[in-house]
Amino acid sequence: MDKGKLRIGLLGAGRIGRIHGGNIAAHPRARLAFVADASREAAHDLAQAAGAAVADADRVIDSPDIDALVICTPTDTHADFIERGARAGKAIFCEKPVSLDAQRTRACVRVVEETGAALMIGFNRRFDPSFSTLRRRIQDGEIGEVELVTILSRDPSPPPPDYLVRSGGLFRDMMIHDFDMARFLLGEEPIEVHAVASNLVDPAIGRAGDVDTAAVMMKTGSGRIAQISNSRRATYGYDQRIEVHGSLGLLAAGNRRTTTVEFADARGYSVDPALPFFLERYAEAYRAELDAFVTGVLDGAPLSPTGLDGLRAQRLADAATAAARTGKAMRLTLEAGA
Ligand SMILES: NC(=O)c1ccc[n+]([C@@H]2O[C@H](COP(=O)([O-])OP(=O)(O)OC[C@H]3O[C@@H](n4cnc5c(N)ncnc54)[C@H](O)[C@@H]3O)[C@@H](O)[C@H]2O)c1
Repeated sequence: MDKGKLRIGLLGAGRIGRIHGGNIAAHPRARLAFVADASREAAHDLAQAAGAAVADADRVIDSPDIDALVICTPTDTHADFIERGARAGKAIFCEKPVSLDAQRTRACVRVVEETGAALMIGFNRRFDPSFSTLRRRIQDGEIGEVELVTILSRDPSPPPPDYLVRSGGLFRDMMIHDFDMARFLLGEEPIEVHAVASNLVDPAIGRAGDVDTAAVMMKTGSGRIAQISNSRRATYGYDQRIEVHGSLGLLAAGNRRTTTVEFADARGYSVDPALPFFLERYAEAYRAELDAFVTGVLDGAPLSPTGLDGLRAQRLADAATAAARTGKAMRLTLEAGA
């Protein structure tokens, strides 16, 4: 370690890589040593802004000058990079999802276990101050037994077409966050998955074989229910709301708006739209998750969310994809370790 600092190599300097790169550079216990990107220009821009060097991904992974990797490349590269990082003895933070299907994720998690590498998956919403408080208050017993979890999660607009084609589809790319959040709040594994999906926002998404509007219902072994509503469109900003209904009451977390200013006249009340998108809405969550990774690795504490969390969310995404395609409910068996 470099004077007690975690030396980090960042792979992928796109939308989310730039956020993590900035947070690493600002962290008092971390140093951004290298940035790698298939686009030399993207790598150069971030490296220059963050005081890091540019290098090829292969060199970064094997470099003796880094302790940890932060993987922010497209989803179809994650599992390979995780395995290579684990074999090179690096601690790894990888953006969600681990791969495009559960079988590949399972193999990747096995390599991580065999090598004993530390792995954390980027389910950033667990670190959002409102959602983490919601979980703590459920665990404190304030609403008794959890009965119904409702997650409303809608993007303001679809991602760029070149992102979409490599994304794995709405359930694996977007709803994966909500599958993780449902598990986080239910406190039990869902074993039954129902899904419906449509192409209502942009015909180009349908032509690319994906959907942009979907609803999922899931049930756990004891009968707890989670419902998730996703859209790639929301005209009023980034819509991120959660309600947890329990035997003793309700906990809810609403949208965050650009300002708290309220206007009223004879026609009624109006307020600002929700914050525009994930970069603004989850800015604190990204800082907190990076801090959890850096301090966890430096202090030798267990990292969370784990590769197993990644695998369990992935199995739900695969099940929902199949349920939406076939129109049939999917049942999951809780195999050991997954
Ligand atoms: N947790 C979150 O809130 C969140 C938000 C956005 C994206 N993501 C995830 O992060 C990943 C990246 O998404 P993004 O929106 O930043 O995508 P992006 O397309 O903006 O950025 C990806 C970058 O990776 C580079 N790249 C592609 N292949 C590479 C390779 N083999 N080696 C090195 N660089 C390579 C590209 O040139 C690009 O700059 C995806 O897996 C996505 O699911 C997570």
